[in-house]
Amino acid sequence: STPKVTVIGSLNMDLVVSMPRMPKQGETLTGDAIHYIPGGKGANQAVGCARLGADVTMIGAVGSDRFGEHILQDMRRFGVSVEALAVLEDKPTGTASIFHTSEDNSIVIVPGANGAVTPEMIDAHASAIVSADIVLLQLEIPLDAVERALQIARSGGVRTVLNPAPAVHLPQEVLSLCDYVTPNEHEFELLSSLALGESEALIEEGIRSWEERYGNKLLMTRGKHGVSYLDDNRLQTASAPIVEAVDTTGAGDCFNAAFCYGLASGWELKQAVPFAVKAASLSVTRFGAQAGMPTLQEVESL
Ligand code: RIB
Ligand code: NA
Repeated sequence: STPKVTVIGSLNMDLVVSMPRMPKQGETLTGDAIHYIPGGKGANQAVGCARLGADVTMIGAVGSDRFGEHILQDMRRFGVSVEALAVLEDKPTGTASIFHTSEDNSIVIVPGANGAVTPEMIDAHASAIVSADIVLLQLEIPLDAVERALQIARSGGVRTVLNPAPAVHLPQEVLSLCDYVTPNEHEFELLSSLALGESEALIEEGIRSWEERYGNKLLMTRGKHGVSYLDDNRLQTASAPIVEAVDTTGAGDCFNAAFCYGLASGWELKQAVPFAVKAASLSVTRFGAQAGMPTLQEVESL
């Protein structure tokens, strides 16, 4: 049957300014172009799952403005169920102002409606959580809403994946409610208070102590190096194929989406992780977080 994923999180309008290089502090630089593109980690991940063929419901909020309308239209176009998305009268749609070069990006987020998602709004859509194969969350909505969703999933016996981005400290109670946590190196160092550097031995030890402490699986995304995790109690790294990067925005979102697609399909880690790494590699070869999300066929033929 079709894998069913419920994504709980943010929807932003991304204001993407392309430029040859990052401006220095205090510098005025002439950019190449500006694009208005639907984004937000939650929405990107929802679209990523839908592009792969999952049945996707998203819980979140936009404002009742042009950006919000545009985003909802886009979600429908990608086949994401929008019944659990609130349109808030008194908040603007979230925005992400993105400074984009081919190598890199810097982002400033104004949460708007995303910041107004409450535990009560999550309760109202509990049925979409307990009926999913996998629930996927990030940290661009308030933590109390994230925690409520994790609690509902846990009591309903539904597995959860938390992509702890952007990086913030998280209490033990929240982390212990997750089944899978997918930080990048920087987020992992912040959450675990460990300094890993590039050392494989420290990464292995760090992941092992994390899993003992929180009772869940940790997958560390390492950019060009791929994704590391413990399997058979040994460090495994699914390496990323070498690609020509056009736009890295949303690569992490693509990884999380594809990983959840795999889990929801009943795959083991050794199948789901390399699949998700391949999907993310494909996504960086294309412009736009959501438009860059590959289909199942595209990932399989890489
Ligand atoms: O992960 C990429 C996303 O982060 C962008 O789409 C932007 O909206 C920010 O939230
Ligand atoms: Na991309």
